[in-house]
Amino acid sequence: MNKLFRNKYGYFDPEQHEYVITRPDTPRPWSNIISNGTYGMTITQAGSGYSWIEHAQFNRLTRWDQDLTRDNWGKYVYIRDEDTGKSWSPTPKPAGIGKLKDYECRHGLGYTTISGRCQDVQSSITYFVDSKSPVEVWEITLKNLSRKKKNLSLFSYLEWSLGMAPDWHREFDKIFITTEFERKTGIFWATKTRWALPDPSGRPWARPYEYRGFHACFPKAVSFDSDQRSIIGDLGENQAPKCVVTGKLSKLQGRCNDGVASLQTRVSLRGGQTKKVVFVLGGTKTAAEARRIVARYGKPGAVDKELAAVKGLWLGLLGQLQVKTPDQSVNLLVNQWLPYQAISCRMWGRSAYYQTGGAYGYRDQLQDSLATLPLNPKICRDHIKRAAAHQFRDGTTLHWWHPITDDGAKKVNSDDLLWLPFVTARYIQETGDKAFLNEVVPFYDKGKGKIREHCRASIEQVLGRPSPRGIPTIVEGDWNDGLSCIGFDGTAESVWLAEFLYGILNDWCDALAYVGDRQAEKDIKRYKREAKRLATAINKYAWDGDWYIRATHANGILGSKKSKIGKIFLNAQTWALMYGLPTPARKKKMLAALNKHLYRDYGPLLFYPAFSKPDPGIGHLSQYAPGLRENGGLYTHAGCWAIIAEAIAGTPDRAFKVFNSFNPIARGKKPDHYYAEPYVTPGNVDGPQSPNFGRGGWTWYTGSASWMYRALTDYIMGIRATTDGLVVDPAVPASWKNYTFTRKYRGATYTFTVRNKSKGAVKRKVSLTMNGKAIKGNRLPIANKGAKVKVDVVVESA
Ligand code: GLC
Repeated sequence: MNKLFRNKYGYFDPEQHEYVITRPDTPRPWSNIISNGTYGMTITQAGSGYSWIEHAQFNRLTRWDQDLTRDNWGKYVYIRDEDTGKSWSPTPKPAGIGKLKDYECRHGLGYTTISGRCQDVQSSITYFVDSKSPVEVWEITLKNLSRKKKNLSLFSYLEWSLGMAPDWHREFDKIFITTEFERKTGIFWATKTRWALPDPSGRPWARPYEYRGFHACFPKAVSFDSDQRSIIGDLGENQAPKCVVTGKLSKLQGRCNDGVASLQTRVSLRGGQTKKVVFVLGGTKTAAEARRIVARYGKPGAVDKELAAVKGLWLGLLGQLQVKTPDQSVNLLVNQWLPYQAISCRMWGRSAYYQTGGAYGYRDQLQDSLATLPLNPKICRDHIKRAAAHQFRDGTTLHWWHPITDDGAKKVNSDDLLWLPFVTARYIQETGDKAFLNEVVPFYDKGKGKIREHCRASIEQVLGRPSPRGIPTIVEGDWNDGLSCIGFDGTAESVWLAEFLYGILNDWCDALAYVGDRQAEKDIKRYKREAKRLATAINKYAWDGDWYIRATHANGILGSKKSKIGKIFLNAQTWALMYGLPTPARKKKMLAALNKHLYRDYGPLLFYPAFSKPDPGIGHLSQYAPGLRENGGLYTHAGCWAIIAEAIAGTPDRAFKVFNSFNPIARGKKPDHYYAEPYVTPGNVDGPQSPNFGRGGWTWYTGSASWMYRALTDYIMGIRATTDGLVVDPAVPASWKNYTFTRKYRGATYTFTVRNKSKGAVKRKVSLTMNGKAIKGNRLPIANKGAKVKVDVVVESA
């Protein structure tokens, strides 16, 4: 077996597409976030985690508390040897630590398997979420390693949340829960009479919880319990609950218990024999649907069939873009982990360990959906429509909105609305789906409009709020949420926003030109003019000598040489470079300044130096400890833009160096320093002003997954979609001599074989042949649907 990037805690198994954890005491919980788009669960290497349906805060199925050290909340299983009375759990938590030998945890695509051995029983528990239905499955394979017959009891234990999470006032919340064991089907039901969400009728306190939780097992349960005290025991702990000590559950159910669930099932194993036990847990609107699901899993072979379907779905989706480069970490990230993180966690689950979410962030999932473009652009298309439906007629949008209640916060961030045309333009580049621009979607407040009208409303709204110098105002903040107060008096200018708008105007003009009708022509004229005007204003007012400032505000400038704190900000440089705003001379200075001030050992800092005390004139980033999150650490999401900026600026070796400085797999080589999972991106890494400089945190739930994916595929490997075809513009390091890249584009499959002879030169020349025919320039003609296209690429110094 190929064990890649082995460290003290684990390694990558590329054949199985898994990350394998070999000891449970990882520096932080190392989790998997599994979702089918509706139902989701988190599962850590310790076996802990929680589950939800559609919205992890509004519709949480099981209780959980965020505790990165103890990691002691979950849905657990205990195994009891009925002959000896000895017990343990098949996962480290709650009762496996110190008992479970040969521990291993395999996080895969849509599932996690934890295995070990105790009391001569080999156990392996696989957790996965059904590919379509709102249910998770725990399949436990047990093997008797001894010659003697073993009589085992298995007990599950979980606490129902059923609705709003956290239910911090448990004594109150549990009063609404009813549990009922249905003998015929073996289903242990849980319903709740209250859902702490507004009732559509307007009546206070009227909304019942609209789902029913269900829990069942095979072989069918022999006993059950819903009362915490009788399960765990007085002053008991979940390492050794009373039921496991005595081997009994007390069959309490009804309305007046604790609203938890425990099922007991029995299995006997002859010496050497292997058997499977299956637990299912889920939530449906009707009992009939749950019964159908449970019955399905009661059939022999059902679990294996569904698990194979789940794996197949992921491999099929991610298989749409595959690369083979000299750098194994890039292959692992691009072929599997980054798009998996972006889709399973960010788009579908919208929740993780460090952040329990559930809502759609206006800008967030739009950016995440970029990861789906080369894989299944329909996911992006559907999301653009979802986002357009949460926009007001005047172009402003909800800052985030909640599925289920469909309401949200109307906070006027200056950038939220612009991500709609930004992503729509990219969707058009990918698909050429012109008709989409004329698809009609309702506005959130009144009326409806075509997608292009939604995008137009976004652009017009931002164009309509310039400062006297023609730079857009930041209003209640821009991409950087931490600049929450800077725009309080309405006068602050955002230079980053100006650059962002400049790029969008040009991109949007491309999309409009592609449509090519009269309205489009009119808009193009105006937007080209506005773009020019913006570029002039940026270059006139925002240049600080060696870099661009980030913003102006009532008390001065953010991101100037003269500033004591926050002298230089990353985003104001990266976006200017991405959109080619500086002159060559300025560009040179900026690249040098980035290298000098912001590119540090563990990734590009969001700005430097960090705030050490709160500044109410700036916002909450100044309240964070110095070097953490948006306060001058590596904010991974923005760090990815530095990779893109360097690639576009024509500095390929630097682009790769920047990437590698926070490449999670490379950082995972020193896990006791880095802490975070090596297989996904962290939201942030502590900056130099933190005593933990280099420590990663806030993993999984970060917009960086999608951006790192696109940075590697579109800009480093340099194969990207435009409205008129795929462009080939590699910016790979000199050390990469060859790589292959396969992706779909408008229904055809393109396989690129790239030879790099450029030695990392700034000026490069690309020669292309397509199916053996030489192509002029670096843009490929669009092939017919279904075609298989072979492209040979040679990159040389120019
Ligand atoms: C968080 C937010 C995102 C924002 C970023 C920077 O990740 O979800 O919307 O852009 O922080 O502040």
